Amino acid sequence: MVQTRLLDASDAALDAAAAMLRAGQLVAMPTETVYGLAGDATDDHAVAAIYAAKGRPSFNPLIAHVVDLDMARSLVEMPGPAGDLAAAFWPGPLTLVLPLKPGARVSALVTAGLPTLAIRIPAHPLARGLIARVGRPLAAPSANPSGRISPTEAQHVVDGLGGRIAAVLDGGPCRVGVESTIVAVDAAGAARLLRPGGIPAAQIAACLGQDSLTQTEADGSGIESPGQMLSHYAPRGTLRLNASAPRPGETYLGFGPDSGRTSEETGLNLSPAGDLTEAAANLFRLMHVLDDRGADSIAVAPIPETGLGQAINDRLRRAAAPRD
Ligand code: TXA
Ligand code: MG
Repeated sequence: MVQTRLLDASDAALDAAAAMLRAGQLVAMPTETVYGLAGDATDDHAVAAIYAAKGRPSFNPLIAHVVDLDMARSLVEMPGPAGDLAAAFWPGPLTLVLPLKPGARVSALVTAGLPTLAIRIPAHPLARGLIARVGRPLAAPSANPSGRISPTEAQHVVDGLGGRIAAVLDGGPCRVGVESTIVAVDAAGAARLLRPGGIPAAQIAACLGQDSLTQTEADGSGIESPGQMLSHYAPRGTLRLNASAPRPGETYLGFGPDSGRTSEETGLNLSPAGDLTEAAANLFRLMHVLDDRGADSIAVAPIPETGLGQAINDRLRRAAAPRD
């Protein structure tokens, strides 16, 4: 057990957090998507400690967070379409999986030995301030124990990882609320969607001048992006999806105006106005609330499969998947 320090958003706190990271310790940092558990991506020991703190299977590679394009280019090749996507969406909730540059200074534990690296420039000023101070890429998976709900508030991190990490930087609630969209671009410039997320796939396709984007589905054997694994992001209770109304004993998670089904008393509505951006921002917070209330049977209203609805439904399907 270590004492986990809760740090505010001041310059002094950022300096302290950067010093911890440079010393190989782990710090949870806010990003615009979810809180990330950051460690120095060039330090094998720090990266190994991330896997250990999360209890994450070591075959599951991590995203390297960088502060600008120069830092990105020092690590990965940027085939034409990758440059276009970076120009359009960075800083922001897009992760690119790109060919690793020979000799790139990054721990092989970050890529889990793959010839590619997942990389992104986050938009959150605290994340950016931290990476700039450390001056090295930061490996950062979502700051939750493996298989559990992603954290969108500092308190979620303290609840899940307190006692196992050096500090949590408190930046308030995350604006986007679901993880970044992951797109792989190969050396020939072909793009594939590996995970729906904070930027709708349709916007990625439009930027590439395509009608749509191929999505690589996990088939259980050759998992390419293990965030694709089923039973991820799960609350403790069971989930029933596309439920137009709750059954007896179920707690209802609503979406849109639902004339009392969500029960105004419980306030468990992703977005009473039916707004997908608001629903994404509320998704993990409300799953944490369901856990805190000990809800064991949860019914979830239908969510449209458009825009951010794709990422929301993806997380809900994984949360509802059978667990072992
Ligand atoms: O919004 C986000 O992306 C957050 C914040 C903290 O940046 N991070 C996040 O990290 O969601 P994590 O570790 O929970 O998810 C990273 C995903 C995993 O599904 C992993 O398998 C995939 O990225 N990934 C990482 N490197 C990869 C690679 N080289 N090829 C394919 N998938 C990769
Ligand atoms: Mg995660």
